[in-house]
Amino acid sequence: MSIDISRRQFARSAAAASLSALLPRGVFAQSPAPQKVLIRADSEIGTVRPEFHSHFAEHLGSCVYGGLWVGKKSPIPNEDGYRKAALDYLKELGIPVLRWPGGCFADDYHWRDGIGPVEKRPKRVNIHWGGYVEDNSFGVHEFIGLCRKIGAEPYLAGNVGSGTPEELRDWVEYCNFPSGSTLSDERAANGSPEPFKVRYWGVGNENWGCGGPMTPERYGDLYKNFTNYMRTFSEPRLFLVACGPNGNDMRWSRGLLNTLTGGAPQARLPQGWSMHFYEGGSKPSTQFTVDAMNEQFRIFPRVEQALIQQRALLDSYDPQRRCGIVLDEWGVWDAIPREDEKRYGRLWQQSTMRSAVAAGLGLNIFNRQADKLYMANIAQMVNVLQSILLTDGPEGRNCVRTSTYYAFLLFKPHRAKTAVRVETGSTDPLGLSVSASRSGSELVVSFVNPSDKNNLEVDCELRGATARQGRAELLHHPDLNAYNGFDNPNTIVPKPHEVAVEGARVRVAVPALSVITAILQVA
Ligand code: AHR
Repeated sequence: MSIDISRRQFARSAAAASLSALLPRGVFAQSPAPQKVLIRADSEIGTVRPEFHSHFAEHLGSCVYGGLWVGKKSPIPNEDGYRKAALDYLKELGIPVLRWPGGCFADDYHWRDGIGPVEKRPKRVNIHWGGYVEDNSFGVHEFIGLCRKIGAEPYLAGNVGSGTPEELRDWVEYCNFPSGSTLSDERAANGSPEPFKVRYWGVGNENWGCGGPMTPERYGDLYKNFTNYMRTFSEPRLFLVACGPNGNDMRWSRGLLNTLTGGAPQARLPQGWSMHFYEGGSKPSTQFTVDAMNEQFRIFPRVEQALIQQRALLDSYDPQRRCGIVLDEWGVWDAIPREDEKRYGRLWQQSTMRSAVAAGLGLNIFNRQADKLYMANIAQMVNVLQSILLTDGPEGRNCVRTSTYYAFLLFKPHRAKTAVRVETGSTDPLGLSVSASRSGSELVVSFVNPSDKNNLEVDCELRGATARQGRAELLHHPDLNAYNGFDNPNTIVPKPHEVAVEGARVRVAVPALSVITAILQVA
């Protein structure tokens, strides 16, 4: 991570003076001294896997029903039952992987309930999320259909808590066996002759909590039992994700790894190690105070520490890193007013300028820890927690792209590039956060300023590269509680931003509460 560079001398050259002349004065005028940043373009960390920008959709509130899925007969513009505006926005952003159907819902979900003629599907009570009657009109075919439309790779969360090894084994066969077995023929009869080719399978969800509650030893035994019957029937090979810790719970992790390996290192290790780490908030989303915001932002260093420490523990069992960390639930979880939930659905939460900054802090961590992370799925895609899209309730026609959507859009240029090291000289959780990635002649740098008041002039030194030109985009609003409402959907949208480039120096104004991505042409 960052190291102290306060003693580093940055040349005060004539070039610097000419650079200053290029920069917008309004912001810099308030800044006492430039913030120094060293971008080590020649010091590689690892690939920024596009999967770091993955998502999660649960049968919860109005995420699926009334959010992504409005039904084929809905007056809301739709494509085969999927909300048309949502499809368009999701395609524009690009969704690498989508996890479904939960969350807690997954361990009470029986996949056969969601196949076959819709009118014959059973009605079940969603015991985790408000006891509404789930009609199962959105099942596995509808989910795979959504993934195909938006170009996402599906990630199915299997039921360990209340299901059986047989049920999960059959779900894999139903989805992935090409043809000729009773289950694969049933899939074909239900409209999908081609196998779904689902690679990612979660073996339970939060089995220390809503998917249990179990001890790590009991879950570990069940993991071995369930996965013993899961087979790769067609390419791609199955990627099985075990339920790792809540946050950075080392007790769970050690207990599970010991149970899985049984003293034989690497035997029975999963391909993926699920972690969940929410960043709780003490205020309703649009009523945050600066103190409450800072308290929430201070959680992010703990997320980074959890990734580092869990990876180190995994390394002691799995030095070749065949088991990857899958942070398949993260994001801000604010205090949610009951009235909002009644109106819009359970866990419906507005996304503000603060939320966008939080997204940027998380995505910067993923770049910095690119060698330790395999996938991350923000919770959740629509209308639940830190959503990228919001609709005004289950019947709502409106669909807006939230501030978090735009933060993700700003990080999109990092995808598939190689993360490189950055030094800011500070480890202050409320100080400037920076990450960078490179591919060939393109260097992408993201700056996140979580301060509510410190406008920064950032003076970057490039090491191992010189820049010819650059452009940048800024996501910013001075009000931490500002958001993209249904009447004002463009309150927080990216805008072109000036970046001054000269050889090994790059200067940019980074206002308080902002996310900026600069794309530099380098040699
Ligand atoms: O995302 C909401 C809930 O948070 C999920 O269902 C569960 O896995 C987690 O506790």
